[in-house]
Amino acid sequence: HSIALWGGRFSSGPSPELARLSKSTQFDWRLADDDIAGSRAHARALGRAGLLTKDELNRMEAALDQLQRSVDDGSFAPIEEDEDEATALERGLLDIAGDELGGKLRAGRSRNDQIAALIRMWLRRHARFIAGQVLDVVQALIGQAEQAGDTVMPGRTHMQHAQPVLLAHQLMAHAWPLLRDVQRLVDWDRRADASPYGSGALAGNTLGLDPDAVARELGFSRVTENSIDGTASRDVVAEFAFVAAMAGIDLSRLSEEIIIWNTQEFAFVKLDDAYSTGSSIMPQKKNPDIAELTRGKSGRLIGDLTGLLATLKGLPTAYARDLQEDKEAVFDQVDTLEVVLPAFAGMLRTMVFDKERLEQEAPRGFALATDIAEWLVRNGVPFRHAHELSGACVKLAEGRGQELWDLTDDDFISVFSGFLPADKAPQVREVLSTKGSVTARNGRGGTSPARVREQILAAKNLAVEL
Ligand code: ARG
Repeated sequence: HSIALWGGRFSSGPSPELARLSKSTQFDWRLADDDIAGSRAHARALGRAGLLTKDELNRMEAALDQLQRSVDDGSFAPIEEDEDEATALERGLLDIAGDELGGKLRAGRSRNDQIAALIRMWLRRHARFIAGQVLDVVQALIGQAEQAGDTVMPGRTHMQHAQPVLLAHQLMAHAWPLLRDVQRLVDWDRRADASPYGSGALAGNTLGLDPDAVARELGFSRVTENSIDGTASRDVVAEFAFVAAMAGIDLSRLSEEIIIWNTQEFAFVKLDDAYSTGSSIMPQKKNPDIAELTRGKSGRLIGDLTGLLATLKGLPTAYARDLQEDKEAVFDQVDTLEVVLPAFAGMLRTMVFDKERLEQEAPRGFALATDIAEWLVRNGVPFRHAHELSGACVKLAEGRGQELWDLTDDDFISVFSGFLPADKAPQVREVLSTKGSVTARNGRGGTSPARVREQILAAKNLAVEL
């Protein structure tokens, strides 16, 4: 058989240079299963339109089954001359069914509507799988948050000690963006759930085919309303690429945190041996490679997105061959996430926090200064002054190389004089504990143990819902 799907009007075949540039089987062959599923649905549409007899349809379906089996067992694969997956599969079908029957399948469809449908089918399936893997990471975070109990740690802004927070609160702060990524995937699927099959090359088809039936068979609940849009838009692909990049970024931020916590200076967390690597020269090394690779690979996830957006910018509608470039970007993202997420979940599940050290560090660096100010407010001091007075306590302690709780009764009496009576001032000690500090932050969403238990429950419920 002549290999190309076109050629009637050409007097020569493609030059070798063109063939090499044009070729996409090295990456689009992974759409073969979806292509064959599309062909089955299309064959039935041709049958319903009277363009295949009942017998022809039966033989066509049998041929497609056989083609699928030989794709599955690897006995059929693209050869050098195949331009793309569709070309290869047509060759395979003609080999099995013969020109007479096999040559009928292409009626009323174009690779333009096919490829637009196939990438959606493939992405929707992988989006569901990735959503499950992201939820697994969320479950690992929830598990660690539950194990953390009421353990307190230094909460930081600008990387400086700010206010004590529960370790569980900090961990859950990473669970919520990941839950939103899953929500984004679910929401994205609603927009991806429209089949371009039947749009033809750009203008629709003349053969009376029923795109709705094809859509249903391919797992779509509806058909794209505009055949030009159906074949030429890739915002659905780009939106997936954004969610993938965002998930990568969310994982990268958590990675960065773990890498810092795992340093000798912080020593907040130890990674399990099975989820760390060694050095080829330094025998003592135990490296957080999973976190580093995740952080590094988030860069390529972003690159895949920006590359795709740049490809789409300025494309005239309808189809142009540039659109072939959409696939590698998202294939790379899916491959990347599908290998990152399980390793990341394992690392999270097995890491062990040094709770004692976290508790010890939590109040250091004058992290209770806000508590002093707010205690003063509760005792009638306007916040503007309270802020100043608490700052004066910090200055005094810092000058002596002490912490706030090392200040004496007399220190507090003299700093607060003019605002609080001498018998009251030393009572500020009641808030100079991390336990007091976190328990007091009991507004909704706050770090008090009761509120954190609430949010863990809410996250669990959401995870089940998704
Ligand atoms: N392989 C192309 C793609 O991935 C589809 C083929 C469209 N070719 C054409 N000449 N219209 O986008």
